[in-house]
Amino acid sequence: MFSAFRRKIALASPIVSGSRSRRLFSTQLHNIANPPRILVTGAVGQIGSELVPFLRKRYGVNNVIASDVSEIHSSSAEGPYVQADIMKFDKLDEVIQKHDINFVIHLACVLSAIGEQIPVLALKVNTRGIENILELARINKLRVYAPSSIAIYGPTTPKDETPQECVARPTTIYGITKVYTELIGEYYHQRFGVDFRSLRYPGIISSEAQPGGGTTDYAVEIYHEAIANKKYTCFLKEDTKMPMMYMPDTLRGTIQLIEAPEETLTQRSYNLTGMSFTPAEMAKEIQKEIPEFQIDYSPDFRQAIAESWPRSIDDSVARRDWNWKPEFNLSSMTKHIISRLREKKNLPST
Ligand SMILES: NC(=O)c1ccc[n+]([C@@H]2O[C@H](COP(=O)([O-])OP(=O)(O)OC[C@H]3O[C@@H](n4cnc5c(N)ncnc54)[C@H](O)[C@@H]3O)[C@@H](O)[C@H]2O)c1
Repeated sequence: MFSAFRRKIALASPIVSGSRSRRLFSTQLHNIANPPRILVTGAVGQIGSELVPFLRKRYGVNNVIASDVSEIHSSSAEGPYVQADIMKFDKLDEVIQKHDINFVIHLACVLSAIGEQIPVLALKVNTRGIENILELARINKLRVYAPSSIAIYGPTTPKDETPQECVARPTTIYGITKVYTELIGEYYHQRFGVDFRSLRYPGIISSEAQPGGGTTDYAVEIYHEAIANKKYTCFLKEDTKMPMMYMPDTLRGTIQLIEAPEETLTQRSYNLTGMSFTPAEMAKEIQKEIPEFQIDYSPDFRQAIAESWPRSIDDSVARRDWNWKPEFNLSSMTKHIISRLREKKNLPST
């Protein structure tokens, strides 16, 4: 502990200028001869369980070290996995040295709905976690990608086509910690030259991984329930419109940003979206594939969180800077997910 602390102090200066340090901290990620050595924190979660295999396919199985607070995960069967608590600086430092890491993808987090139930835990994990990662990045000259969220926005934010740059005064502890993540990441970039990048994900919908306790989780649960029981009770009101994105678009957008040449970026943290819809619109789309499907509504505490967030997002800056464009809309995503779930359960396609 003490030696790591001494090393932190010793390396705290001199401060390097943005342009020189950007050269120091940047890695050509798509250079096949010299692939990045990536540590993924929170790898067991909804996004990690799909992003890790995706990264391994692109950069090589042994170049992507999955980690989480849990002892073991199935992704460990497909490649290296280490148990590491994001709060433990020295353990993370040890993993970084041992595996020769030069890039951290920081997914470890407590999400919005769980965060409102255990705010002190969310505050600690979400703030200490990014602080540890950024300090390790400064000391070890690592690149950092840490997702933000549309939860940075709050009730005073324009709700429709929320622009890249506007008021961000969230009312959830999760949103507050995500504003902090963006700002502290941008500070480490301009002060110490850490190549920090972030995407403000909307609700992420996946057919494979289960969601981890967010306010948009209904949009994943609904498909599983539609296949299993042909009915679903939604915890949001039928007309609650929210921005969302299908996992394949999320993976593609994430890779696009992390591989984008530095000179194309005008932001460190980008708005990003795929589509916007209400639970009623989603149910109607599911009924096209499963006509017997029924939905009812029993809004809970997550309704207030959803109502504090944008209804739709303007991601034109990401589209302009690094050619972002989602491929899935509500209809194509619904068809894709239902056929994947039927395949997995060996059900006939209609
Ligand atoms: N899933 C979404 O809809 C969504 C939307 C917007 C932003 N994001 C962001 O994407 C990132 C990943 O989200 P996710 O949906 O995969 O979350 P998740 O809750 O599914 O996974 C988070 C992971 O972090 C791990 N974790 C928690 N505390 C930890 C600790 N102390 N040390 C190490 N690991 C710890 C958990 O075990 C879990 O596996 C987060 O930053 C989240 O804010 C997700």
